[in-house]
This record gives sequence, C-alpha cells and structure tokens, in this order.
Amino acid sequence: MKGKVESLLTQGKLPRHIVVIMDGNGRWANRKGFDRISGHKEGMKSVKSVVKASRELGIKAVTLFAFSAQNWKRPKSEVNALMELLKEYLIKEVNRLVEKEIKLNAIGRLWELPSDVYEVLVKTIEKTKLCKEMTLTLALSYGGREEIIDAIKKIISDGISPEDLHEEIFSQFLYTSNLPEPDLLIRTSGEIRLSNFLLWQLAYTEIYVTKTLWPDFKKKHLIRALINYQNRERRFGLTSDQIRKREVN
Ligand code: FPP
Repeated sequence: MKGKVESLLTQGKLPRHIVVIMDGNGRWANRKGFDRISGHKEGMKSVKSVVKASRELGIKAVTLFAFSAQNWKRPKSEVNALMELLKEYLIKEVNRLVEKEIKLNAIGRLWELPSDVYEVLVKTIEKTKLCKEMTLTLALSYGGREEIIDAIKKIISDGISPEDLHEEIFSQFLYTSNLPEPDLLIRTSGEIRLSNFLLWQLAYTEIYVTKTLWPDFKKKHLIRALINYQNRERRFGLTSDQIRKREVN
C-alpha cells in the first residue's frame, strides 16, 4: 500500500536518473557523540533504503557519490573503514541486487582502489550484469575534473580529430557513456556545491538540496525530493511557452 506522501507522486513524471551527493555522515556522528566511522555505517543503511525505494518507485538509474578522488587525503583509518564498508555492502547485497534485477556499475579511477575492494567490485558487476530493471552506479575514487582529463587523454590517444569532436562524441568518452543524463541531483546536509561531481553531466540537471544529513535520509525524504522535482519546469534553455507547446505536441 502507498504511503500518504507517496500518493502525491505523479507516476509518469519520475526522473529516469537520480544522482546523489551523500553528505553529512561525519556531522551526524559528531552530533550524537560518535566517531565518524559510525556516521558512515549509518550512512550505509541510507544507501540500502534509497536503493530499495528507488527500485520500488520504478527509477531506472541511481548514481551515488561514495568516495571522491579527494577523499584519499582523509585520515588513513577513515579511508580504510570506508573501503571495508564498501566491500561489506557489495558482499552482503549482491544476492539482493540480483533478486531485485539491479545491475551494479562503477565510475571513477577504479584502478586506484585497493585490490581486494576492486576484486569484489568486479565480481559484483559480473554477477549483476544481466539485471535489467535499474542500474546502481557507485562513484569511487571519482572526480569530475579527473573524468574530463581521462576522457581527453583517450580522445587524443584514439586519434579523434578536432572537426569530429562534438558534445555527443565527447560524452561517449566519459565514464558515464552508458548512462542517461542525470535528471535530478540530490545533495544532503545543506551544502550548496557540486564538489567535483559529474561536472559535464550536470549541465541541465535539477538540483535539490536538503538539510537532512545522509544517515537520516530515507524513503520519505527521497519522495519529498521527487515531489519537488515534479513541480519544476525544465526548460533546457527554451522559454516556458516553447516547453508547453512541446508537451502538447
Ligand atoms: C560524506 O560525508 C560521505 C562520504 C565521504 C562517504 C559516503 C559513504 C557512505 C554513505 C557509506 C558507504 C557507501 C556505500 C555505497 C556502501 P562526510 O563524511 O563528508 O560528512 P561531513 O561533511 O559531515 O563530515
């Protein structure tokens, strides 16, 4: 049965691809007098909740910013704990992902991950590769500028000539080449910035910022974000009039 908030959603107008900056784990822990790792552990529960809810709602793609290229500079103990949590998530969730038809994908400089984490990641991707209902992408050792640099290097090494280079070709060289453009970016904990996340891809994405800290962000918060999204008018540089006419035709 649908909850009261969920019934406010218009089924036909759901975002195809939601991307999330899961921020505020440290502050959540701090406010409760716990160590930062406890915040990340609690954050993992929100990951499970948001993935489950997205699948139930019929969202086709969810991308989570789980570890940035800059996060390596955090204290070693925190980096190690995050890597262990990631491994734990993949090992414990793989069967559920298969059962729910969720394909796992990863973007970022994955070769920088510790080899044990990389191996589990590759195995999980392999085990879920035929799943068709939703794609869950984890951004790991990911940075938007790094992604653009990696794309340019590949474009040069593939010998693409300047006259052949246009937006669609460029997009094919990004880590996200197999994903639809993000429709909605959710950032938790009230910070209003992109933090080097999907810099190219977010060009026309609707941005939703909530003060809720990531460990507190659950299904009802996701639905609030979706309702907010459904009340936006996406214009892609056109006028309201033009958009309305396009909707009628
Ligand atoms: C940002 O909060 C969050 C992270 C750097 C890590 C996100 C990781 C998880 C949610 C857990 C594991 C993830 C998966 C996919 C299993 P912060 O630590 O920067 O918070 P703060 O700004 O309050 O310090």
